[in-house]
Amino acid sequence: MKKSLPDYKEARRRTKEEVKVITDAYIMDNELSKLGIGKTYCTVTYGCQANVRDSETISAIMEDMSFTRVEDMKEADVVIFNTCAIRENAHNKVFGNLGIIKNLKEKKDILTILCGCMAQEESVIKMLTEKYKWVDVILGTHNIHNLPKLLSEAIDKNEQVVEVFSKEGDIVENLPVRRDNKYKAFVNIMYGCDKFCTYCIVPYTRGKQRSRRIEDILKEVNELLANGYKEVTLIGQNVNAYGKDIENYPTMANLLEEVAKTGIERIRFVTSHPWDFTDEMIDVIAKYDNIMPYFHLPVQSGSNRILKLMGRRYTKESYLELFHKIKERIPNASVTTDIIVGFPSETEEEFMETMEVVEECKYDGAFTFIYSPRENTPAASMKDDITLEEKEDRLQRLNALVNKYYRENNEKLLGKIVPVLIEGPSDKNSNLYSGYTDTMKLVNVECDKEDIGTVINVEITEAKTWSLDGKKVK
Ligand code: SAH
Ligand code: SF4
Ligand code: F3S
Repeated sequence: MKKSLPDYKEARRRTKEEVKVITDAYIMDNELSKLGIGKTYCTVTYGCQANVRDSETISAIMEDMSFTRVEDMKEADVVIFNTCAIRENAHNKVFGNLGIIKNLKEKKDILTILCGCMAQEESVIKMLTEKYKWVDVILGTHNIHNLPKLLSEAIDKNEQVVEVFSKEGDIVENLPVRRDNKYKAFVNIMYGCDKFCTYCIVPYTRGKQRSRRIEDILKEVNELLANGYKEVTLIGQNVNAYGKDIENYPTMANLLEEVAKTGIERIRFVTSHPWDFTDEMIDVIAKYDNIMPYFHLPVQSGSNRILKLMGRRYTKESYLELFHKIKERIPNASVTTDIIVGFPSETEEEFMETMEVVEECKYDGAFTFIYSPRENTPAASMKDDITLEEKEDRLQRLNALVNKYYRENNEKLLGKIVPVLIEGPSDKNSNLYSGYTDTMKLVNVECDKEDIGTVINVEITEAKTWSLDGKKVK
């Protein structure tokens, strides 16, 4: 049953129409709340923080329907794939897992739900409705609140239910949440993106930029604080553009200040688009100790010609100016970045300009990607004349440089005392506990079980490329 399908023309539209804040969209009646009694669910999440946070809502909705959580998808009665569309390999992982579920279905009854960004893609929906008819429910990023209704319809009618909205999107408040972590939490401050970088699918899959109302954000932060949370990460595709979509509204600098005043111990924010980074923001971050000195500032490329083709709205020079301004005002700031290699027509010289930016910024870390053409985006129709071999070679050289600085920056912390929020036992060594520094570095710490959930001072005793070791000091 097709209720509504994705439509790229709709998804591309941006109108001045006012965004509605809907507070009563989620309906959980008596019948729906019993749907999952005696049954289990598993949520499998791909992609960015937006999806991680959405999955926490999806899991809560499943539990409102009385489903019980299991961690292994092979054991679940209902498997939910919350998907990502950012690069082709994100797709491949999902199709691989769908294959596993299809095989399992021969032995037992499994209901499959596919949601998230892939569901917003026309070609994916075509494939799922033609070749994957056994996927029971498909819903997009704008209508998670309808999950109970759609699931119950799929069960009643025993046929595939598809509901994907491509309109620009509203803001839906008052959805439940089942958080994965007891000490740190993601808080949405905005949805969607209006930047339309030419390689990127997000503006199509997530709709237009919609800033959440400041009072709703502060209410969520205060609730987290009251429940013992120590850290909030304010999330959005372009957090620095917070408020710009509403007339005369508080800015990101204002929001950061208000969140800082709640007194929560640690505040982070991702992702910062260099274009919207204001001096006021830097002032506020420098002023409040509970705003962490950590910046994720994607550069994408060091070549002005490529940046222009990407539609990034800044130059290498203006990026570096911002970078150095941050480092001057906040001396212990750590900065990480995102970089794409092999964008259509990128020359070896242009790639070397990216390497030079990495050398100048000596990043604390970087997510590096080979350009992946995305359906319907402007870059997908640009002539891509770089061989895969060349792209892989650039990625390898870039990663070697990135890792060198990753390690060097970690080594600078040897012997230093840094604050770490201890989250739980270390994955690597069960005698140790792990957590992150104010500057977002992973540390395995010799400390006590009682330190879990608190920020402690840690002396760094060993530096590796990807993590640090340390011991608690008074
Ligand atoms: N809103 C953030 C980025 C979100 S996507 C920003 O503008 O900085 C995360 C990263 O994925 C991007 O920074 C980019 O480096 C990478 N990415 C996005 N689309 C891509 C594509 N088509 N191919 C390869 N990498 C891509
Ligand atoms: Fe994609 Fe650009 Fe928006 Fe980031 S700012 S989500 S890269 S379109
Ligand atoms: Fe992926 Fe969608 Fe996030 S495409 S990166 S899950 S916004």
